[in-house]
Amino acid sequence: MKLHIGGEQVKEGWKILNIQKKDGVDFIGDISDLSQFDDDSIEEIYASHVFEHVIQKKIKNTLIGIHRVIKENGKFYVSVPDMNILCKMFLEPKIPPKVKTQVLRMMFGGQVDDFDFHYFGWDYTLLESYLLGCGFKKVEKVKSFSLFDDTSDYAPFSNIPISLNVIAYK
Ligand SMILES: C[S@@+](CC[C@H](N)C(=O)[O-])C[C@H]1O[C@@H](n2cnc3c(N)ncnc32)[C@H](O)[C@@H]1O
Repeated sequence: MKLHIGGEQVKEGWKILNIQKKDGVDFIGDISDLSQFDDDSIEEIYASHVFEHVIQKKIKNTLIGIHRVIKENGKFYVSVPDMNILCKMFLEPKIPPKVKTQVLRMMFGGQVDDFDFHYFGWDYTLLESYLLGCGFKKVEKVKSFSLFDDTSDYAPFSNIPISLNVIAYK
């Protein structure tokens, strides 16, 4: 099985886990509690713009849980707002207020519902150190996963993508 966490798009070969009941969702659950899945049972996990919704004290256990359910040599695709890019964009004098608002929403969450709040910020070195510290053996940054049409490719200003897209290998 391949698992799309925080997913909203049905795609062949992928099951969706979401904290909210939405069309196409196969499992209702929280990224920080994957106890409904067995050890080494999932080939790949994809999570775009969900991991930053995890409260700080649960971050390590969330990554340990993801590592636990992924099969040996499996992959974890994770996309989060890149705080380095967002901070630079926020400080850019020519950025229009509308885009500035988008930047802030990417930092703090859109806050359209109870699950749309961000509790942490990431850049590559920080995310890499957490992933390696929680058992992943290799981590690489990619421009795009080219798997889903979602926020991982969002570029609100001057075609600059604001996501940090990383593949972690078990
Ligand atoms: C900001 S949206 C991102 C949607 C899509 N993945 C994308 O990249 O465009 C966050 C999604 O993750 C879900 N979500 C939020 N917190 C979650 C959690 N703790 N566990 C699982 N899903 C969560 C929300 O219901 C929502 O569908």
